[in-house]
Amino acid sequence: MKYQLPQDSKMLSKKEFTFGVATAAFQIEGANTKDGRCESIWDRFCATPGKVLNGDDGTQACDHYHRWQEDLDLIAALGVDAYRFSIAWPRIEPTSGSWNKKGFDFYERLVDGMLDRGIKPYCTLYHWDLPQYLEDNGGWLNRDTAHRFAEYADRVTQVLGDRVASYATFNEPWCAAYLGYRTGMHAPGHQTVAGGFKAIHHILLASGLALPAMRENAPGASHGIVLNFSPGYAYDANDAEDVNAAKEHDEEHTHGYIKPILEGQYPEGLYQRYESEMIQPEEGDMEIISRPIDYLGINFYNRTILKANKPDDFNVFPEDAEFTDFDWEIYPDSLRYLLNDLNNTYPNLPPIIITENGAACADSIDESGKCHDDQRCRYYNSHLNAVDGAIKDGVNVRGYFGWSLLDNFEWAAGYSKRFGMTYVDYETQERTPKSSYYLYQELMKERD
Ligand code: FCB
Repeated sequence: MKYQLPQDSKMLSKKEFTFGVATAAFQIEGANTKDGRCESIWDRFCATPGKVLNGDDGTQACDHYHRWQEDLDLIAALGVDAYRFSIAWPRIEPTSGSWNKKGFDFYERLVDGMLDRGIKPYCTLYHWDLPQYLEDNGGWLNRDTAHRFAEYADRVTQVLGDRVASYATFNEPWCAAYLGYRTGMHAPGHQTVAGGFKAIHHILLASGLALPAMRENAPGASHGIVLNFSPGYAYDANDAEDVNAAKEHDEEHTHGYIKPILEGQYPEGLYQRYESEMIQPEEGDMEIISRPIDYLGINFYNRTILKANKPDDFNVFPEDAEFTDFDWEIYPDSLRYLLNDLNNTYPNLPPIIITENGAACADSIDESGKCHDDQRCRYYNSHLNAVDGAIKDGVNVRGYFGWSLLDNFEWAAGYSKRFGMTYVDYETQERTPKSSYYLYQELMKERD
């Protein structure tokens, strides 16, 4: 097969559209005690029995800390324009208020390595690896962490400046706050409703607080944030309760994050549904949170189907639904729908970059040494076309990043889920590009 976009697709114009691949520090770097890096909340979480599948951890991961040149070569050979990576705060500020030269050096080498290879650096400042000493002071439940983040963002952008083409303050506040502080499925593993809302607020506040210095330090870069969405669908579109469940899902998990940023307000409905748990912002907070961004990064994997009052064993998925190895439904239309919905809801929606999209598959290397990840190939093709459709509908989408360059540490699922376009043998650290890599490479050649 091929990844096929229509001839008239804007995505095929290098001037109009940026293609890339994405990773994150904790998921690939390993070397988590090297060169002065301190413990992060994910190191602690991994070391807590029962939190991560098979007791997996990030001590070695893809050993990218040592193999970054080989990995950049893989990206260069792929022919994409950009690489989205993240910076490990624990390498940069290993003890409170001390700035680690060796940490900066690593990311300077990495960024310069991209520039040498003609790859544009897209840098995420926070992809969930909070220094543990900040968590010991309350983590994202402590308002002071927002100020600490702003200081860290200032330092990093002072050093990397305009060498980076695009900065994101945060990756997926929903995961960091909701999974980290409300359900406890992710680090640091807290489980309160009020804590979840507090963490969201402090993360969004941190993002807004950081922006002015980031703009000053890197005036030529574009500055934004990455949100993840899984749009809600009513199981039965004729059932008022299902429709309402889908609406409440979107209000909480979509608009609860984007509305404060674009409109300076949390959705009214959240104050009604979570009367005692919802955060009461301090004066001036919402102005800070809604400071303008240059682009919005969107991570998309699947939709969520909602059925009101459903018994636990009720299966909400259509009979012919297809699933990835994560049991996530494959439903590309919902990406097109989501993009249109946001575009219709927010008149001031900034340009959009799809900063993550991809599929987990049960990959293996066959006897001839190859990895045929057919389902992932189909996933990419259908989602690339969903983005093309949304652009034709009038949505201003300017980029697409596949998740991920490499198989890597998939958080609470450890190494059991493979999202890479490149297979990683964790014993030998050998990298083997999969079929999805070669198809992406072919598509890159078709652009002008
Ligand atoms: C997203 C994360 C990313 C990766 C993918 C599969 O939620 O941002 O790190 O784990 O899911």
